[in-house]
Amino acid sequence: MDVTQALPLLGGISPQLFMKRYWQKKPLLVRQAIPGFKPLLDRAQLFELAANEDAQTRMVIQEPGSKPGWRFKHGPFQRRALPPLKQAGWTILVQGVDLHHDRVHDLMNQFRFVPDARLDDLMISFATDGGGVGPHYDSYDVFLLQAQGQRRWRIGRQKDLSLQPDVPLKILANFEPEVEYLLEPGDLLYLPPRYAHDGIAVGECMTYSIGFRIPNRGELARELLQRLAEDAEEVVGVGLYRDPNQPAVNQPAEIPATMMEFAQNALQDALQDSLALARGLGEYMTEPKPNVWFEARVGSADDTQAMKARGVRLDRRTKMMFDPHHIFINGESFSASGRDATLMRALANSRYLTGRDVAKLSVQALVLLAAWCAAGWLDAQN
Ligand code: SIN
Ligand code: CO
Repeated sequence: MDVTQALPLLGGISPQLFMKRYWQKKPLLVRQAIPGFKPLLDRAQLFELAANEDAQTRMVIQEPGSKPGWRFKHGPFQRRALPPLKQAGWTILVQGVDLHHDRVHDLMNQFRFVPDARLDDLMISFATDGGGVGPHYDSYDVFLLQAQGQRRWRIGRQKDLSLQPDVPLKILANFEPEVEYLLEPGDLLYLPPRYAHDGIAVGECMTYSIGFRIPNRGELARELLQRLAEDAEEVVGVGLYRDPNQPAVNQPAEIPATMMEFAQNALQDALQDSLALARGLGEYMTEPKPNVWFEARVGSADDTQAMKARGVRLDRRTKMMFDPHHIFINGESFSASGRDATLMRALANSRYLTGRDVAKLSVQALVLLAAWCAAGWLDAQN
């Protein structure tokens, strides 16, 4: 993608300018970001997915009254478990639809001017008239694409982030909207993290949310430390603690300060291995989601021939990234350099390689590609 080229998707500005001016800073409304946009799944297909165990689905039902109440349920939901379409004020939200439908995955890929390590998933919500999840804020960035019908969005910078007590959802107690927009199919609204918003369906409506992943320091530290721990003994070595200068003690229960220093040094050495840290980060970022299963199949020598003839395409569920020293795919890391690294990076970026490019790979890289093909991570493309 040429990130300097103006995109209709971003209202005629380039991804470069969007990232500079709006990303994580302020909202952007784009009328007709995708002109003539038609939903990629109809209502029946979305309901079918909502019944699927592997899809993460939630339902929010608004109970009318002077002070509206909220009911919240986790799916999966069989069709008969959904309220009638004539009933106003309910919504279902199906997370990760990009993992199930190629065209939805392709739509999400239009947002790959943001690194894959930040892109999370595409959620589809369906609501009957008046439906929504209430005024709230999210901790991540989101692009809200109106797919069908209309939705009225009220948004605001909101200083007071206190939440309503005793409700099963995170709903702002004192929402103070500043602007209001009525979105039509094909319109897009970008919101930075923590920007308050409330979207209410005007008639039956479907909204697509392209959501982002925001690593959190504590979680990242725990994940990386766990991964580093696996190789720690090898990296740090088995040097033994020595204390020739230990004086005699009259408080024997006290841990010696020199032992604390010894422990700190050992930890520092373990953290010093920047390649191990990079491996841990890449493996973690490409770890498939817990609800993702690949269908392994018996590989054969023909696979390599087919890949050379037709090229390869990553499965839509495959996560593939790289750093200057490694290639990462679905939670595994490989050292790569030279032409193999260039081609593998191209595969990660474009999500396909032509047969001519596959034929340029070394024997070792071809063996890897065949193993990934057998694991169901990629396929010889047609
Ligand atoms: C929705 O689609 O109903 C909710 C999306 C959001 O507010 O993040
Ligand atoms: Co939201």
